[in-house]
Amino acid sequence: GVPNTYADPVHIAVIGGTGLQTLPNFTLAATLTPTTPWGPPSSPISILQHPSPSTGKLIPIAFVSRHGLHHELAPHEVANRANIAALRSLGVRTIIAFSAVGSLQEEIRPRDFVVPDQIIDRTKGIRPFTFFEGGMVGHVGFGDPFDEGLAKIVRQCGHSLEGEGVRLHDRGVVICMEGPQFSTRAESNLYRSWGGSVINMSALPEAKLAREAEIAYQMICMATDYDCWHDSEDVNVEMVMGHMKANSENARRFVGAVLDELSKEEHAGQVLAKHLDGQSKFAGSIT
Ligand code: ADE
Repeated sequence: GVPNTYADPVHIAVIGGTGLQTLPNFTLAATLTPTTPWGPPSSPISILQHPSPSTGKLIPIAFVSRHGLHHELAPHEVANRANIAALRSLGVRTIIAFSAVGSLQEEIRPRDFVVPDQIIDRTKGIRPFTFFEGGMVGHVGFGDPFDEGLAKIVRQCGHSLEGEGVRLHDRGVVICMEGPQFSTRAESNLYRSWGGSVINMSALPEAKLAREAEIAYQMICMATDYDCWHDSEDVNVEMVMGHMKANSENARRFVGAVLDELSKEEHAGQVLAKHLDGQSKFAGSIT
């Protein structure tokens, strides 16, 4: 049996999306099933151990599957507050979040990766979207919804895999829509006119909650379709799953390279999100 407790703090987490439900190349050290004031997370949290390339020391990584172990949670059912609170209470200050996305631009081809730097919120306000309510009032800045220091590291890792067939776009605007239905053609074209690069159903409120919890957060997107604006076939679930599955080796390699890099001693300050300390009034009480 794998232990159900883990004594040391865990600073780094991966939130896996559709098609990235596990990280098989890592050693499973514990499986945690925490509860939080916001209920249980989307899935048990796996603590995976990973030798630091610089020191050889074993670095723990927390992994949570956004849509559940068996992809049973629709986008509006994801336990975002519980996921972020559970990770923060383990000590997490850095999150790499993975997401399958539709492409809104010709040059972002299915199976290309995008490291986005902006988000447009097209969720409908029906998902619980803040920790700060019920007497705990706080406002965090969100001008840059992702963490630029983390993004730099992620981009470098992605480019280092270009020889192995990883195609990477360094920036992009994520349209986060409510779903679970895909967009109309008029909406898809509207989002293109707004400068949207890719579209998904999961960047929010995840990124907002991470910011409230003072966790450095960066999403890695993988395009699985051209949504419905393009001449090619309209998006459907088989298309999304097909491209995800076909390119999952690259996705795992990419995330693995990022975890390797983040495990290096030189990134300790970034990983601990020192630059976010004190930005959010109540981050310390989100546990
Ligand atoms: N996830 C993957 N493809 C998508 C699309 N076209 N729209 C919304 N979310 C997606």
